[in-house]
Amino acid sequence: MPYKPMSPATFDLFADAEPEQERRREPIGEQSFVLRGFALPWLDRLLPALETVLADAPLRQMVTPGGFTMSAAMSSCGTWGWTTDRSGYRYTRHDPQTGRPWPAMPEVFFELAQAAAREAGFAGFVPDACLINRYVPGAKMSLHQDKDEACLAAPIVSVSLGLPAMFLFGGFERSDKSQRVPLLHGDIVVWGGVDRLRYHGVLPIKGGQHPRLGEQRINFTFRTAK
Ligand code: SIN
Ligand code: FE2
Repeated sequence: MPYKPMSPATFDLFADAEPEQERRREPIGEQSFVLRGFALPWLDRLLPALETVLADAPLRQMVTPGGFTMSAAMSSCGTWGWTTDRSGYRYTRHDPQTGRPWPAMPEVFFELAQAAAREAGFAGFVPDACLINRYVPGAKMSLHQDKDEACLAAPIVSVSLGLPAMFLFGGFERSDKSQRVPLLHGDIVVWGGVDRLRYHGVLPIKGGQHPRLGEQRINFTFRTAK
């Protein structure tokens, strides 16, 4: 399905500074934390870098092996990008849509991911993959585990921008009860160690307009894929 690119009207790099948002570290598991507002000071560098990445590797809705079109649109940057189609899901070096290598991970992405991981107790995190998800109102992510990475010793660092989301943070079985964690623009969730394989997902995004990103939520998940 074609994607409406982010128009300057909804992607305003020069919008007013974010309202004051408290920065704090909330545990949601033994080795899992929400870092409230952690990404906010990085935004002026992050958003232009995101635009550059998406110009090279446009967002697209992928199809699962079961034949369902995912409601979130995806792209990647870094050495490895995550893709799915009817034949399965995998990390690839090239974007199957363009045939080009995935765009390099911008320095600011890498620095932010490292800083957030360190804040959550995972010093020395070296992400080689960043999956970018774009949710429009109604889009969601069903409960799943991130288990396609060769390196499960490394955490997942997940950055939320734009419209709010209700993040589900579950257990080690799909049927385990999930915590509901509201995520706002600038929040980062880090999970790793004993929590690395916990199920997680996102409830359908509610309609709304974010002052800086418009009618969408953008999420980055940093991983060490290989
Ligand atoms: C994911 O699990 O890949 C995305 C999580 C999110 O959008 O918060
Ligand atoms: Fe995930």
